[in-house]
Amino acid sequence: MEPTLQASEFYDRLAPFYDTMNDWPARLAFELPFFRRLFDRRNVCSVLDAACGSGRHAVAFAGWGLHVAGADASPAMIALARQHAAVIGVNVRFEVAGFADLGERFTEPYDALVCLGNSLVHVLGDEEMEATLRSFRDRLRPGGLLVLHNLNYDRRWRERPRFFAPDAGTVGGREALIWRFADYGDQLITFHTALFTKQDGGWQVEVNSTLQRPWRRGELFSHLTWAGFTHIQFHGDLTGAPFNKDTSGDLVVVAERLGEL
Ligand SMILES: C[S@@+](CC[C@H](N)C(=O)[O-])C[C@H]1O[C@@H](n2cnc3c(N)ncnc32)[C@H](O)[C@@H]1O
Repeated sequence: MEPTLQASEFYDRLAPFYDTMNDWPARLAFELPFFRRLFDRRNVCSVLDAACGSGRHAVAFAGWGLHVAGADASPAMIALARQHAAVIGVNVRFEVAGFADLGERFTEPYDALVCLGNSLVHVLGDEEMEATLRSFRDRLRPGGLLVLHNLNYDRRWRERPRFFAPDAGTVGGREALIWRFADYGDQLITFHTALFTKQDGGWQVEVNSTLQRPWRRGELFSHLTWAGFTHIQFHGDLTGAPFNKDTSGDLVVVAERLGEL
């Protein structure tokens, strides 16, 4: 088996396929109302998306008139996000930055910081999680909101689903198919993407792998409390449904930065 890739390299390779493997109209129609309600209720005017990927959420938030910035460890994802913002005609500052390095690029305090689409699983160790959540906290004004959107690993780690439905479409004018699958180790998951493209009448495939840490609710709660977050709430998806560790598909966390530390 090929060695696993760092997340930034893994997503650089996945980037050309990323907007084909996501049904963005359906995703945004499902996910955005949650943010609209939350941001309106909490008077959020500025948002930092800490793993913005191809920038779809950030661009949508900017379309609501919010002051928005996006960061991602993958330069190819940031290039996609910049292109997308230019096509839509919104002003979003997108920068290449890892979770723990946000302070080098973003110095102003934000009303909200979001980390969506199961990005936090790429933080593999407890020390790295501590540094990540401290970095998130330090980008927020006191009382600012943190929103994390992950899969429900209390359930997934127990059920260990191996193969996921493929996504099909076109990439660079060629037929493409993206197939995801996972191997479960003692503590970590090896996550694979098989990227198929049709060329010269035949199919070519590139398989890339990266590691994920299945952070469960209890672990995240401890880390968040330690990092200086309070009023920690859990939801089971981005409609705001209650979290049930046995049945929920997702784990959505909404927390608040403590006043003064
Ligand atoms: C599954 S994608 C989700 C992207 C987007 N938020 C969405 O919902 O579609 C995960 C993203 O996390 C980014 N990522 C992974 N580890 C990171 C890190 N340590 N710092 C910043 N971004 C990271 C990847 O480059 C990738 O764009």
